Amino acid sequence: MQEQLDDIRRKALDELAQISNVGDLDEWRVNHLGRNGSLTTVLRQVGSLAPDERKEAGANGNKTKTLLETSLEKRTEEITNLVLEEKLKNDRIDVTLPGTPLMQGRMHPTMQTIQEITNAFVAMGFQILEGPEVEWDYYNFEALNIPPGHPARDMWNTFWVDYEDKDGNRPMLLRTHTSPMQVRTMENREPPVRVVIPGRCYRYEATDATHESSFFQIEGLTVGEGITFADLKGTLYEFARRIFGMDRQIRFRCDYFPFVEPGVDMSIDCFNCQGKGCRVCSSTGWIEIMGAGMVHPEVLRRVGYDPEKYTGFAFGMGPERIAMLRHGIEDIRLFYSNDIRFLQQF
Ligand code: DAH
Repeated sequence: MQEQLDDIRRKALDELAQISNVGDLDEWRVNHLGRNGSLTTVLRQVGSLAPDERKEAGANGNKTKTLLETSLEKRTEEITNLVLEEKLKNDRIDVTLPGTPLMQGRMHPTMQTIQEITNAFVAMGFQILEGPEVEWDYYNFEALNIPPGHPARDMWNTFWVDYEDKDGNRPMLLRTHTSPMQVRTMENREPPVRVVIPGRCYRYEATDATHESSFFQIEGLTVGEGITFADLKGTLYEFARRIFGMDRQIRFRCDYFPFVEPGVDMSIDCFNCQGKGCRVCSSTGWIEIMGAGMVHPEVLRRVGYDPEKYTGFAFGMGPERIAMLRHGIEDIRLFYSNDIRFLQQF
């Protein structure tokens, strides 16, 4: 029996040394240590030996078994390490390769423009306010000197809110401009007033390259003693230079808005062609950028300001239009179509 055990041990250890992968190790274990393995088969014969031989054979058998088992463990560890070493050699991480870029968020171009414009006014002592997008007819029209039936109401195609008062009127709407905040501001404070009000507005109209049903405006209002049209010009000139370049010229032409008198539209000379005429300014050399005017005495009277004592100026502009001019964007609908390729450019 000793001879058989020696044979098995020699053969098994030889085989084990040849093995180089984990799968073959298991096969080796089954072949030698398994239930029908070579060693187990021999050990099973121990019981049929004569009692005096049995003890020694049993001891030798167990010794062989322990040896095979520890050899297997050792070889398993060796192979695992070899495999790992090989893997590390091949899968080496190149830390100099560029990483996977993360998508980085940024401010929407409309918000960037609003921030720049309001910053320019803050630097001139204006305060920033915001107001409600769902507004009363009173603030959107009436208090701004636009009574029911006034032709100026046709200028603003309104989204009415589904709410009726006891007389069957629909006095609530989505504001068509930010001007109602002029009235709300004056109702709530005494002069001097110097505010800019950015915010979303809504108009019921077909969209095209220059019209959206929802868009932004920035309103401005100054009221105090002794404010004149010269203050309007000086303030808006400074604004134009800060946003469109220090060598800008400005031009005012008469325009009509019911809540100002006189009312104007303000243009800047074209920053693209320096006034010579190009695509950006439709060959006129000038670009209209906002409406403005001296606050109408009737508007002041309604909020309880004495128009004999106080005067002021107001203005309103569209930040999308200004962003379009500055960045050469040809269609306002791009701002709100959620196309990340467009938005990523700013
Ligand atoms: N609210 C006007 C509009 O939506 C813009 C405007 C014009 C605002 C003149 C003003 C202003 O404050 O003085 O067309």
